[in-house]
Amino acid sequence: MDMLCKMFFILWTFFCFLFAASDTLEIARNKPTKQSTNMENIRHSQNAVDGDYLQTPSIGDFCTHTDLADESSWWAVDLGAIYEISNVIIFGRNDGCCVERFSNFDIEVIKPCRNNPNWFVDSVRELCYHQQVPITFLNASCHNRMFGQYVRIRLNDPNPLTLCEVEVHGTFISYSRSGNSSRKYSSLSQEK
Ligand SMILES: *[C@@H]1O[C@H](CO)[C@@H](O)[C@H](O)[C@H]1NC(C)=O
Ligand SMILES: *[C@@H]1O[C@H](CO)[C@@H](O)[C@H](O)[C@H]1NC(C)=O
Repeated sequence: MDMLCKMFFILWTFFCFLFAASDTLEIARNKPTKQSTNMENIRHSQNAVDGDYLQTPSIGDFCTHTDLADESSWWAVDLGAIYEISNVIIFGRNDGCCVERFSNFDIEVIKPCRNNPNWFVDSVRELCYHQQVPITFLNASCHNRMFGQYVRIRLNDPNPLTLCEVEVHGTFISYSRSGNSSRKYSSLSQEK
């Protein structure tokens, strides 16, 4: 009986692990966003997490757009907590315009070390994925296990950035510290 119980427990743990590993949620929808610059007074950064997947910015305000003169375009989302990021799904524009602009970019996962209104100061930045050739759709799985609160898409070439929808899939780990504590993150386990 004891043996059976132990075996059951081992199996149960194993299945919990399997389930937890595959049970990632979409965590970017309607979260706060920023982009390096904004083209005109439309095509704001929020358009990438509004649930509208239309990939035709030429016929309406469906996508984001940084300024045409922006030489280091980026877009980012604040997930509101620390997540383990598994994959990032990007819907670029596919209306035939300027496909070459959406190439040579990095997807970064950023973890704040302390509270700072500037998302990227005092933070640890890791490369989740690099995409070299132009694409209109990408399902990028991070190269390594990666934990963070912000996900940023950053062009390496001096082009405007247009995103029609971005999904971030991940598993909740912990809330960041609130207030303006200056203590650093030492380990995730201390956040529990
Ligand atoms: C994206 O990739 C993940 C991991 O390989 C996979 O589980 C998921 O089904 C893919 N989603 C889409 C929309 O392709
Ligand atoms: C931030 O720290 C200052 C100085 O220690 C304190 O006066 C202030 O109330 C703090 N703000 C928050 C939001 O905790």
